[in-house]
Amino acid sequence: MSDATTDSWFHALRLPDGTVTPGRFDRDTPPNYTLWGALALLRHLDLAAADCLDIGTMDGLMAFSLARAGARSVVATDVVPRPTFERARAALGLDVGYRTPFLVSDVADVKEPSWDLIACCGVLYHVFDPLPLLVTLRRNLRPQGWLILETQYLKGEGRARLSFEPGEAGKALRHANTFFRPSHSALCALMETAGFEVVTTIATLGRLTVLARAERPSAIRTRSASTRRVLDRYRHYANYREAVDHAGLDAASAPAVVGYSGPVGDFVLDTTTRRPASDLEPEWRPSAAARARYRLRDRTAWLAASIARRRLLPHWPQPDGGLSRPRSG
Ligand SMILES: C[S@@+](CC[C@H](N)C(=O)[O-])C[C@H]1O[C@@H](n2cnc3c(N)ncnc32)[C@H](O)[C@@H]1O
Repeated sequence: MSDATTDSWFHALRLPDGTVTPGRFDRDTPPNYTLWGALALLRHLDLAAADCLDIGTMDGLMAFSLARAGARSVVATDVVPRPTFERARAALGLDVGYRTPFLVSDVADVKEPSWDLIACCGVLYHVFDPLPLLVTLRRNLRPQGWLILETQYLKGEGRARLSFEPGEAGKALRHANTFFRPSHSALCALMETAGFEVVTTIATLGRLTVLARAERPSAIRTRSASTRRVLDRYRHYANYREAVDHAGLDAASAPAVVGYSGPVGDFVLDTTTRRPASDLEPEWRPSAAARARYRLRDRTAWLAASIARRRLLPHWPQPDGGLSRPRSG
């Protein structure tokens, strides 16, 4: 018989009956830490009129958090259906759609964009084609819509680099499903090339979360002069034609449906002082030794990110008053 404490759970979720699902990490690893940047952003987005898509949802923490943050509609998708998602959704009683099988390539050929916010967390490094993925997501977002993208990244790499993990000599991959990993500046330039303005980035240990707005390419404030040149000139080359339509994206405009009132710029999230973003998440209660280890890791991650950005990065501000309450639901 299936049980919330013994099923194979990816996310650590706090269910209304007090059960905490085990998640994929041991007790000393911060539960769901790869999503902490994305969850931190939600409290600053006004989602009341937003139709949201979560790609690669696994047990649904991001999709459920979008619903609890007041989104008008949420559709969670994944490559294969997971009974754990269904169990959690039923226990939480949330109105969240669930589409499977669903690959990123399944959103490719829409005529009209249908989403105001797309969450794509922990997926980029699993696909063979990161830039076309971003172009696809951009095409599927309404003008001024938002992408929350979360990925493994090359922490400490200041140049715009994309590593191809299977080719890394002397390092055996733990999982055989990790392909491209971008540096911070590479990811920003990739997103801008696809038609996004990067608004906020949050580094968490070896992970990076980016909040980016679907913007007209001519209006994007790029982080490098070279990306500006691509956005201005690429469309004029007759004999170089990748699958991006900068002129078409420039022609489409609409007022923003989702407002963002949070911090803007590049941040590092301090994992040891972080508190749960909502009551969907359990508290992290590590041993004293593990907490001390993470303090050191945090400091190293902050230093590496700061060196790569050539300035001291601020920490993401913690909300006052402990546990933040969901806005509705
Ligand atoms: C590391 S998990 C991330 C789960 C969740 N989004 C999170 O961040 O906690 C990767 C997810 O990506 C999905 N995935 C892998 N390849 C995909 C593809 N080509 N298109 C869509 N989803 C994919 C997997 O099924 C899985 O749900």
